[in-house]
Amino acid sequence: MAVDMKGKSLIEIQQLTLEEINKIFDLSAKLKDERRKGIKHHVLEGKKLGMIFSKPSTRTRVSFEVGIYELGGTGLFFNQNDMQLKKSESVSDTAKVLSRYLDGIMIRTFDHQDVIDLATYGTIPVINGLTDLHHPCQVLADLFTVLEYKKTLKGLKLAYIGDGNNMAHSLLQGCSKVGMDISIASPSGYKPLEKVVAESKENAKLTGCKVEILDDPIAAVKDADVVYTDVWASMGQEKEAEERRKKFMKYQVNPELVKHAKDDYIFMHCLPAHRGDEVVNEVADSANSVIFDEAENRLHVQKAIMALVM
Ligand code: CP
Ligand code: NVA
Repeated sequence: MAVDMKGKSLIEIQQLTLEEINKIFDLSAKLKDERRKGIKHHVLEGKKLGMIFSKPSTRTRVSFEVGIYELGGTGLFFNQNDMQLKKSESVSDTAKVLSRYLDGIMIRTFDHQDVIDLATYGTIPVINGLTDLHHPCQVLADLFTVLEYKKTLKGLKLAYIGDGNNMAHSLLQGCSKVGMDISIASPSGYKPLEKVVAESKENAKLTGCKVEILDDPIAAVKDADVVYTDVWASMGQEKEAEERRKKFMKYQVNPELVKHAKDDYIFMHCLPAHRGDEVVNEVADSANSVIFDEAENRLHVQKAIMALVM
């Protein structure tokens, strides 16, 4: 059956079928190739994307804004602090109002439930540009990057070293949906949410891969094709940075640790990186690092998502 994603929201990877993920990747590759050749693709001519941010951003903001422009549409940036949203107006009323002006909403915020509510009460697609719980656009771009480098996803192993945060959750869902083994090593008290681990293990049964949650970073990295890390203190956790630095030092991705990965492993990081904390320059700037291709792919993959849902 043909995959039709028109009108759908992207809230977390768990909601996507493998067919939908593959459709996003196929279109991403096509749009990336056309852009390189200078071929215009104004498939969203005249469409308006509202972009709501209540946390800082470089990649997400710029790639969505450039992306909608390259598809022939317009992006409108809103700082959530300047909106009535959650101050003098409920999420549901804002959702209904914005649906009368816009063709799609991208939102980056703290509370994951706000994204669900926007999508539930509005009548236009809502794209999650990061919440405290998930970062689906990032992981779709990440898996697309792995596919470009390794030509396949199924049967590979990704090791995620660090905080059991939004990135860990979306990677768990993403890897298990496409049949990639995922090993996560985090300190105790900072493991990914049990609910996300359980649903990823269910996905893994269907796709025939392995989901492991470990303490030991060396065991997680062993024979990995992809070594991934993220900041130890996410946006909103700045006050915990010192305390976390002490607890996470053993989880730094450095030359000693990556020795345990496959020789041709690739290093990935959603960025921004806190160099000297979760990763050192010798790894982030090594020949194995693909972090800037990964960042570029946010643009191509999000264009595909917008083109499919708007
Ligand atoms: N990776 C990512 O989402 O980066 P920004 O915070 O710069 O958007
Ligand atoms: N875990 C990080 C990801 C940034 C893209 C954060 O939420 O700040």
